[in-house]
Amino acid sequence: MHYIIVIVLSYFIGSIPFSYIVPKVFGKIDIRSVGSGNTGTTNVVRTLGLKIGALAFIGDYVKGVIPAFLGLQILGFNGALIAGTVCVLGHCYPVWLNFKGGKGIATSVGVLTVTFPYMALGLLIWQFAIIFATKYMSLASITSALFFPICVLIFKEDTPSKIFAIFLGGFVIYRHRANLKRLLNGTEKKLTIGKKNA
Ligand code: G3P
Repeated sequence: MHYIIVIVLSYFIGSIPFSYIVPKVFGKIDIRSVGSGNTGTTNVVRTLGLKIGALAFIGDYVKGVIPAFLGLQILGFNGALIAGTVCVLGHCYPVWLNFKGGKGIATSVGVLTVTFPYMALGLLIWQFAIIFATKYMSLASITSALFFPICVLIFKEDTPSKIFAIFLGGFVIYRHRANLKRLLNGTEKKLTIGKKNA
């Protein structure tokens, strides 16, 4: 019974679309109709600037932390992995937006902060380094999603962690498939910062 409650709660927390709500409230726009059309931090930054982008990120990040933390407290580490996975699925397929959500990066970082804190920190540093060096946000996201399971396979022994990492990394790369195609054919746009509220 506890598992069912945690899973349902994790889905609904994950499905709160902060990257949709924040631009709607503070920028009076539907983020799905501007920029890349993605309901995610990158598109909010690109459209409305860093401050509003940071707010959207914090919302999507914290909603990853909460279910993983609840799962950990109520069900233990494997419960946190399940809650985190469901929460990221909720973010990507939110019932409130016809199941069309974001690509899962900010929420995954929230989940990893609870479940694999050192790797989360390492991946964040990696993300910032790649963004700084290349200005390709999607490259930072895709390579992080690739490195995470590799690190888990190298440093962790338990099977649930390995399954979680391979699934999450593969899923996030799948959500970035259009970006990946554009990166490969040279048409991906570099990250620009929206001027409106920068
Ligand atoms: O995590 C999302 C980012 O990697 C790409 O976002 O808006 O450029 O598709 P976007």
